[in-house]
Amino acid sequence: MKKINLAVVGATGMVGRTFLKVLEERDLPIENFYVMASARSAGSTITFKGKDYVVEELTEHSFDKPIDIALFSAGGSTSAKFAPIAAEHGVIVVDNSAQWRMDPEVPLVVPEVNPEDIDWNKGIIANPNCSTIQAMLPLKALDDKYKIKRIVYSTYQAVSGGGMGGWKDLENTSKGEAPSKWPHPIYNNCLPHIDVFFENGYTKEEMKMIWETRKILHHPELKVTATTVRVPVYNSHSESINVEFEKPFAIEDVKATIAAFPNTILQDDVENNVYPLAADATGKDEVFVGRVRRDESVDNGINFWCVADNIRKGAATNAVQIAELLVKKMQ
Ligand code: A2P
Repeated sequence: MKKINLAVVGATGMVGRTFLKVLEERDLPIENFYVMASARSAGSTITFKGKDYVVEELTEHSFDKPIDIALFSAGGSTSAKFAPIAAEHGVIVVDNSAQWRMDPEVPLVVPEVNPEDIDWNKGIIANPNCSTIQAMLPLKALDDKYKIKRIVYSTYQAVSGGGMGGWKDLENTSKGEAPSKWPHPIYNNCLPHIDVFFENGYTKEEMKMIWETRKILHHPELKVTATTVRVPVYNSHSESINVEFEKPFAIEDVKATIAAFPNTILQDDVENNVYPLAADATGKDEVFVGRVRRDESVDNGINFWCVADNIRKGAATNAVQIAELLVKKMQ
C-alpha cells in the first residue's frame, strides 16, 4: 500500500489532539508526519505512535515540502488563509472549520452518507459541523427509504464543542468563577446560544445545521429548522430530531432501517431504561439512536434521540475517515 505524507494543522488543540489519537488507533499508511500550530506552541513536542514530533509554526512555506493530505482544525481564519495555499501546493486539505463548507466548489462529506462527493474536490474537502454529522447517518438511512419532507432539530451540545475555552468555562464556572468563553456561566445552566446571532434571529450554529443538511443530503430545498443549545456536559452532543416523511412507515421498520445503517447503533429498549447517553458515547466512533417513536401530531412523522462523541465522529474521526477514502483512491 502506498504510504502518504500527512500533516495535522492545529495539532495542539482539542480536535487536533483527537486527530492524533484516532490516527494512532486506525491504520492509515503514513510515511512522513508533520504537526503544525501557531507560533505560540512552535518548538514544543507531540508524541505520535511512540515518536516525538516538533510542532512547526504554520506559515506560507509549510507546504513547500511534499504533503499529500493535511487535516486542518485551527479555526476559520487560519483555514481561510492557509487551506488555499496548501491546495495550490497539491495538498488535499480536510478542513474542520466552517470556512469552506458552503462553498459550491468544496465537497462537504460524511463518509457513510455521501462518499461520492469526494471525487469532485479541488484540493479542499470540508468536514461538516459536529451537530450535523451525527444527525446525517440515521437521516440518510431514513431519507433513502421514506423520503424526508421536513426536519426539526433541537440540540443539547457539550462544552467540548467550544474547544479548550469551552471546557475551561464549565470547570471555572462550576467553581463560581466568571465565564470567559461564553456570555453566561454554563455550569447549572443551558445557553440557547451557540456561535453568533444572525438578523433572522437564528444562531450561526442553527443555520449551519440547516444549510449543511441540505448540501449533504443533496436536497437544496429541504425544509429544516433548528434550535441549538449548549448544556453543562463535558463531551458528546445529544439531539432530539423530529422528521416528517413523504411515505408511510411501520415504526419497527424505521428502527430496523436505522440499525442497519453503517456505524449507527440502535439503543432503544425503554422498558429497561436503554437509550443513548452522552456519557456512554464519549470515546466511541459510532452514532447512537434511541427513543424512536411515532409523532402522533402528523401523518408520517417520528421523533428520535441521537447521541455521538462530537470531538470524535463529530470532528476527528469523520476527517480521518475522509482521509482513508482519499488514500484508497490514491492506491
Ligand atoms: P496553538 O495551540 O499554537 O494556539 P482549540 O480550538 O482547542 O482552542 O485549538 C485551536 C488550534 O488551532 C490549536 O492547535 C492552535 O494552536 C491552532 N491555531 C490557532 N490559531 C492558529 C494560527 N494562526 N496558525 C496556526 N494554528 C493556529
